[in-house]
Amino acid sequence: MDLYEYQAKELFTKHSVPTTPGSVCTTADEAAQVATTIGKPVVVKAQVKTGGRGKAGGVKLADDPQDARTKADAILGMDIKGHIVHRVLVAEASDIADEYYVSFLLDRANRTFLAMASVAGGVDIEEVAATRPQDLAKVRVDALEGVSVQKAQEIVAAAKFPEAVADQVANMLQKLWQVMVAEDATLVEVNPLVLTPDGKILALDGKVTLDDNAEYRQSDHAAMVDIANTDPIELRAKEFDLNYVKLDGDVGIIGNGAGLVMSTLDVVAYAGEEFGGVRPANFLDIGGGASATVMANGLDIVLNDPDVQAVLVNVFGGITACDAVANGILQALQMLADNGAVLDKPIVCRIDGNNAVEGRRILTQAQHPLIEIVDTMDGAARRVAELAAARKAGK
Ligand SMILES: Nc1ncnc2c1ncn2[C@@H]1O[C@H](COP(=O)(O)OP(=O)(O)OP(=O)(O)O)[C@@H](O)[C@H]1O
Ligand SMILES: [Mg+2]
Repeated sequence: MDLYEYQAKELFTKHSVPTTPGSVCTTADEAAQVATTIGKPVVVKAQVKTGGRGKAGGVKLADDPQDARTKADAILGMDIKGHIVHRVLVAEASDIADEYYVSFLLDRANRTFLAMASVAGGVDIEEVAATRPQDLAKVRVDALEGVSVQKAQEIVAAAKFPEAVADQVANMLQKLWQVMVAEDATLVEVNPLVLTPDGKILALDGKVTLDDNAEYRQSDHAAMVDIANTDPIELRAKEFDLNYVKLDGDVGIIGNGAGLVMSTLDVVAYAGEEFGGVRPANFLDIGGGASATVMANGLDIVLNDPDVQAVLVNVFGGITACDAVANGILQALQMLADNGAVLDKPIVCRIDGNNAVEGRRILTQAQHPLIEIVDTMDGAARRVAELAAARKAGK
């Protein structure tokens, strides 16, 4: 889960990372009140989960409460790269002598953590990384060893921080690593990390991504989910513990295994070109051991998506053999019918792998009016695209 800047800064404060005081607001009046409380010039910052806010006009300085109201009014409701601004952070403005960049992230490709740091921080760090990679230091961080004083000094030296701030930045790095570990984050980024004219180091911005796999031991994190801005179908899927991502097409997809589901998305999008650009409506991986209950939950989610015109169930039987999957699909539809669901969307099933012949026989014999069996993945994708296009046209 990506956090908003104001949430990231709450975690920073919890772990004693120095930052500027501020509060999140949803109205211009509130912004003026917060500015009054701060009693100094403030910065009004759009809270959206995307980068480049400053360049988009979503970060503005305000001299006084009235100015804060005006700036908040302009920023609230703004569209930044498709994200509508519903909240602004009003924080004390800070005098800036220099802007640096520091981050920790999970480097999956190299199976390690990585620290990145640069003395050329600020809104153009992406350009620095692209055109002057030598100015962005990268230092591996071992998960077990973490960031010791020595490691922090190594990062500071690699990025060539000025001697005068070396100890403060090293100290900051250790605290940010603490955020990474204690909060189970996969990214902690500060850009800019600033040096104030009186020699202090402060985190003026914060980006944190939390590892959802650690939810079970991070009970405080559930409160950080932005329910109002999460797709309602995704929220329901989460309640069922399903791996679901809403997409913008018309074909509901259910498969087992992330790789299979992703290739199913590609194949359906490709086949759909022939039928006026039919595309997948979601990613849904029901995992191994596709039991009737899990299948029922999956079908429930997908069939209830108003965008879905037809569904493709693409399962490769492994430990759970295809006969069990076929029975699961039939039982799932029965369970949904018993619960009063309106079942009127065609379902194309492609099942292959362990005991496929028996699985297909079970589905064929059931003669369910909504189910069609297609033996190949390409054939199934083509057929489901055709059915989705026809149902859409018929509406
Ligand atoms: N509290 C503050 N006081 C003074 N200036 C600030 C403050 N916060 C941000 N700024 C200035 O605004 C610039 C942009 O702010 P910030 O880094 O938070 O947003 P951004 O980097 O543009 O957005 P994103 O992180 O989405 O790319 C900073 O580089 C800094 O110069
Ligand atoms: Mg920034």
